[in-house]
Amino acid sequence: MVLEQPMKLFFMYLSKNKAMNKAAKQWGLKFGASQVVAGQSVESAIEKVKELNEKGLVCTLDHLGEFVDSREEALEATEYCIKTLEAIAASGANCNLSLKMTQLGLDISDEFCLENMRRIVQTAKDYNNFVRIDMEDHSHCQQTLDILAALRKEFDNVGTVIQAYLFRAEQDIADLKGISLRLVKGAYKESAEVAYQDKNQVDANYLNIIKKHLQSGSYTAIATHDHQIIAEVKKFTKENNIPQSQFEFQMLYGFRTNLQLELVKEGYTTRVYVPFGQDWFGYFMRRMAERPQNVSFALRGLISK
Ligand code: FDA
Repeated sequence: MVLEQPMKLFFMYLSKNKAMNKAAKQWGLKFGASQVVAGQSVESAIEKVKELNEKGLVCTLDHLGEFVDSREEALEATEYCIKTLEAIAASGANCNLSLKMTQLGLDISDEFCLENMRRIVQTAKDYNNFVRIDMEDHSHCQQTLDILAALRKEFDNVGTVIQAYLFRAEQDIADLKGISLRLVKGAYKESAEVAYQDKNQVDANYLNIIKKHLQSGSYTAIATHDHQIIAEVKKFTKENNIPQSQFEFQMLYGFRTNLQLELVKEGYTTRVYVPFGQDWFGYFMRRMAERPQNVSFALRGLISK
């Protein structure tokens, strides 16, 4: 589609636009975002998680928010992560926590962010739960891995995400052997200096790192909606006798729900990433950028208003 590239860039631009992100917090969920964001409160999100659990899906909750630059906001977001872990425990839902560290002070200072992360990961440990650090844009990648390394000295219930579009991904996989990782293609616009630009190269490196992490015996979360990648992973794990307990598939809330349920039927652990909260705009715009066909969400949302 000729318009695909300009639309991607436009949605990427919107996802990072601070004024729009700020304004959208006041709007409530708009443009059909409620199809991919599970409400604005932790209570509504937990309700959705329980419905998904009943269908055999496990979940990870993400309180939306990123690029915070005041200590106050970062501390508030830290409290919200703790509150979310408490709510998961109280509800008995099968669900862990995903978070973005720019929401928790990563742009303020590494020490401050690490302190906030310690509190969150300790709370998860107290509840026998797990924290997944989402990977953000390349400018935060090394900082994220450094904080993960510091946390892993104290905790074993924390892991992160590696993005196949980055040239560094293969080395990172080797360095993080033994650690639970979510592997993704990568969602941000990165330069040709640090990332593959060609989709075929990204896909090839994605399969490459998935196979390497699985073969090293490490727990691997394969987070994709790409049925061809999923089919290849099923084949590879069968041929190499990699037990189903060593990996899981992950997809986003509201995307390819039939495929999610098919995987459950086949006995694969399948985790749904369930975002919620008022700070939904950047997340929603990134999903549009990934797949401009998702504009139909927005159109349906507008029409049904
Ligand atoms: P991609 O978009 O490349 O699509 C491949 C093919 O799959 C398409 O051509 C189509 O055939 C099919 N397909 C895809 N979506 C479809 C749909 N909705 N309906 C029908 N067919 C579809 N990124 C990041 O940078 N940091 C992170 O921490 C995370 N975390 C994360 C968690 C989870 C659970 C997921 C699923 C994804 C992420 N991502 C992420 C996003 C990720 O990097 C990537 O941008 C998106 O998943 C899109 O790439 P896919 O691998 O899904 O397939």
